[in-house]
Amino acid sequence: MQVPTKSLKNGFEMPMLGMGTWKMWGTTTRDRENDDEQDIRALKYAISQWLTCIDSAEMYAGWYSEILLGRAIENTPREELFLSSKVRWDNCSYTAIKNACRNSLDRLGVEYLDLYYIHWRDARFSLKDAMRAMNELVDEGLIRYIGVSNFSVESLQEAQKHSEYPIVANQVHFNLMYREPEVSGLLEYCQQNDVMLVAWRPFEYGEFSIPEAQSLLDTVSQKYSVSHFQLALNWIMNHENVVTLFMSKTPENIDENIWSIWWKLDSKDHSALSKNFPNQQSISNAVPLW
Ligand SMILES: NC(=O)c1ccc[n+]([C@@H]2O[C@H](COP(=O)([O-])OP(=O)(O)OC[C@H]3O[C@@H](n4cnc5c(N)ncnc54)[C@H](OP(=O)(O)O)[C@@H]3O)[C@@H](O)[C@H]2O)c1
Repeated sequence: MQVPTKSLKNGFEMPMLGMGTWKMWGTTTRDRENDDEQDIRALKYAISQWLTCIDSAEMYAGWYSEILLGRAIENTPREELFLSSKVRWDNCSYTAIKNACRNSLDRLGVEYLDLYYIHWRDARFSLKDAMRAMNELVDEGLIRYIGVSNFSVESLQEAQKHSEYPIVANQVHFNLMYREPEVSGLLEYCQQNDVMLVAWRPFEYGEFSIPEAQSLLDTVSQKYSVSHFQLALNWIMNHENVVTLFMSKTPENIDENIWSIWWKLDSKDHSALSKNFPNQQSISNAVPLW
């Protein structure tokens, strides 16, 4: 069964749940001790279960992530996948973006990306020049849509001002615990301005399930007969204009997470989680909006 999509008024559409690849094959550099084949098998398993939205980045595992992701997708028809990648924040001159995208495509072994993000904003580069490069990549058919990541409302507005094509997505840290998009007004801005908010780190690496949250998580998850992890994903996707990406190397966890899609929190439980989840943080501990 295909994962349902969410769409924008401008025609952009993407699956509401996808797989990330951060910490597969390494972090910012390749981990030579890592079991690469296990990670490839996990992605192939996810694809076989119709989890066909996969997110990568130039920076992950020092380029190596895109090469191994290319192996995981090589037998899947391109049109069945929704592939995204990101240009490194420190590689965002006009020329560097044009080259980076071509290099990502080569490593992945595909002819286009569905979505290409600027990984985060770096003041050393002109956003006007960066958006010109991103727009040309659309014209050249190398990317279908333009996204940004970790952009504040102000940076997103500036990017929008310089782009002929719509900025369809902003990929940011958002989960039950980390609420910067909500607190800063970014979530509302995306909802009102036809931008998809792509939430990363939905489980805070599993740390969302803190002792202080057990009673709330137990009460709500038991009502729907779901796990804490399924609840964490469903709460995110239950927001208008919000989709999410998780990473998992474990087929059982992938199965569990997929079953976050086929049910819906009612508004009372959604609000209870939004308001009462303990230890909420208003700024990302990893990549704050800028
Ligand atoms: N744009 C950005 O700046 C940015 C930053 C960070 C992340 N991201 C993207 O967002 C994606 C997701 O975030 P993330 O990988 O940082 O964190 P995450 O998805 O919140 O956490 C991944 C961890 O959760 C575990 N897990 C997954 N499902 C589970 C389940 N059902 N039960 C128990 N444990 C489970 C995984 O272990 P197992 O492998 O054992 O399942 C893995 O260790 C990334 O992979 C990346 O693509 C983007």
